[in-house]
Amino acid sequence: MSVIAVDGPSASGKGTIARALASHFGLPYLDTGLLYRAVGLTVARSGDNPDNQVDALAACDFPDILLHDPELRAEATGGLASRVSVHPEVRTALLARQCSFAVQDGGAVLDGRDIGTVIAPDADAKLFITASAEARASRRFKEMIAQGDKPSFDNMLADIIARDARDTNRATAPLKPAEDALLLDTSDLTIDAAVQRAIALVSGKLEAAG
Ligand code: DC
Repeated sequence: MSVIAVDGPSASGKGTIARALASHFGLPYLDTGLLYRAVGLTVARSGDNPDNQVDALAACDFPDILLHDPELRAEATGGLASRVSVHPEVRTALLARQCSFAVQDGGAVLDGRDIGTVIAPDADAKLFITASAEARASRRFKEMIAQGDKPSFDNMLADIIARDARDTNRATAPLKPAEDALLLDTSDLTIDAAVQRAIALVSGKLEAAG
């Protein structure tokens, strides 16, 4: 049974692609960003400081029910998640849960920032999904307009660039492609085309491995 690792920056399309891969190959799926989002939201709701390692670590004990809270998907929660995720202690606290999901008997698809490098370095197929910051900001912008919000494109682009910088430059498990990852740039692809390309890349990799 196969383990598929999907990494990439925010709004690259990695979540949609990972879900589609899980459904195509009949594998269970874990969005690991949700765990960091749950920690970030817990810190904020306690009135604590996401940049403080002790506060962030205390929030790793969040109840499972929180993983169904719609506020986890909010843009602001993504920023909090990125801030708590720089603390190595937080990453360690969330490690066992992700690793046990990755090694379960039936195989799995996980998406995040460090799946191919840290959580599942022996994954059968690794994808690194990218897109230009402008393309990603424009996707987020359209999503928010569709939800009835009135976002500022410039603020959205600035947030995406700041989050990329934090996720890429942190000392522990930074966002970067594994050496054996297959790269997929979705800047100029529709989501359907990106999904088809991802399925073709992973199928090719799994077939080559026999
Ligand atoms: O994938 P996402 O946007 O839901 O992730 C939110 C933040 O969580 C991201 O900016 C960095 C952090 N994260 C991480 O450090 N490692 C992961 N495997 C997943 C997310």
